[in-house]
Amino acid sequence: MPELFRSDLADKAPSLINVPVKRRMMCLNESCLDPYQAIKGKFLERMEDIHLNRYLSPVTRELHSRLTEYAGFGLERANLVWGNGADDILYHIFLAVRENDQAFAVSLAPSYFDYKTFCGMVGLGIRFVELDEDFSFDTEAYLKLASHPDCRLAILCNPNNPSGNLYAPAQLRQIVDALPDKLVLMDETYFEFSGATFAGELERHPNLILVRSFSKAFSGAGLRFGYAISSGENIYSLNKVLTTFHTSILNQAFALTILENTELFQNQVGEIKSARDAMYLKMREIPGVKVHPSATNFLTFSAGEETATLFEYLQDREIAVRDVGAHRRLKSHLRVTVSCSEDNAAFLAAVAAGTGLSTNYTN
Ligand SMILES: Cc1ncc(COP(=O)(O)O)c(C=O)c1O
Repeated sequence: MPELFRSDLADKAPSLINVPVKRRMMCLNESCLDPYQAIKGKFLERMEDIHLNRYLSPVTRELHSRLTEYAGFGLERANLVWGNGADDILYHIFLAVRENDQAFAVSLAPSYFDYKTFCGMVGLGIRFVELDEDFSFDTEAYLKLASHPDCRLAILCNPNNPSGNLYAPAQLRQIVDALPDKLVLMDETYFEFSGATFAGELERHPNLILVRSFSKAFSGAGLRFGYAISSGENIYSLNKVLTTFHTSILNQAFALTILENTELFQNQVGEIKSARDAMYLKMREIPGVKVHPSATNFLTFSAGEETATLFEYLQDREIAVRDVGAHRRLKSHLRVTVSCSEDNAAFLAAVAAGTGLSTNYTN
C-alpha cells in the first residue's frame, strides 16, 4: 500500500481526548456555567437577523469591534484575529511559522500538552526547557534553545497549565526582548483569572503574539472560540493560513452575545477565584495532600504515593479529575477544575475521605 499521507504522520495517533465522563466533570478546566442557558434570549433575538444561507454577516464586523474593545489598550481591529478556540489559533500559528523540516518551537515543560500535538500535526518540531521544582525556569537555558537559528517560535504559557503559576513579568519581558527575530507566543488562555496580560506591551514588542480563549472565563468550551492579538503585520501574516469563512457565523453570533453580557461572566470569574482560594486553603489542611497555588480556574495537587488510588477513588464517586503526572516534574499529580459549589464540596469531602486509604484500595 503506497503512503498516501505525509510520511511523518505514519507513527502519529489522531488527537482523541481520553477522559472519563463522570457526573462531576472537573477534569478539563471548563466552566460550570452554561452560557446558552444564561444568554439564550439575547442570542436567539440576534439570530432573527442572521441569515445562515449567507457566507457573510454584519455580525463579523460588530464582533470585531466588540472584541477589540474588550482587548483594550488602544488596540485596533487589525490587531486581532479569531478562530475555533485557542487550539485552532495555536495550530495556525504553528502552521504559519513552520519554515522547513528543521524548524522547531520551544516551550517550557510541563506545559499545555497540545503544543506538542499540534506542532506534530503541521510537521513543526518542538523542544523543551524543564521547569524547576518550584515551577520557575532558567531564562538563560530558555534563550539558549530559542536562539537556535531553526527555532521559529518561543512559547510561554502564562499562567501555565498544568502547574497553575504565573511567571514574573520581568522574566517574560527579558525573553521577548532578547528574541527580536523570533515570534514569541504568550498563551493567555487563563488571563481573566490571573489578571496578568502583555496586551499593553504589544506595541513595544512587534515579535509578540498573545493567544486567548472563550472556553474558560467566558464559559464557552463547547462554543470553540479563541483569538490572537498582535501587531497588524503579524495578524496579516497569520490570516494567510486561515481558510476563508474560517469561523462559523453561529460561533461569531454567540461570541458577540457573550461580549455584550461580560458582567455575567466576570461575576462568575470572581466566584471561581474565591472558590479556588477557599479550596486551596482547605486542601492544604488535608493530611498527605500537597496543593500548588494557582492563578487559573484549576488546582494541581498530589497525594504522594496514594495519588493513583485517590484518582480511582474520586472516579468511583463520579468525580473526574485529570492525571497530569506524565512529566516527571508533576509525578503523582492530579488537576482539578474549580467548579460550582456543590461539585467543589463533593470533591473536597472525597479527597479528605479518600486520602489515607491503603494504596491497594478496591471499590
Ligand atoms: C493553556 C491552554 N491553551 C489553550 C487551550 C485551548 O483552549 P480552547 O478551548 O479555546 O481551544 C487550553 C485549554 O485547556 C489551555 O489550557
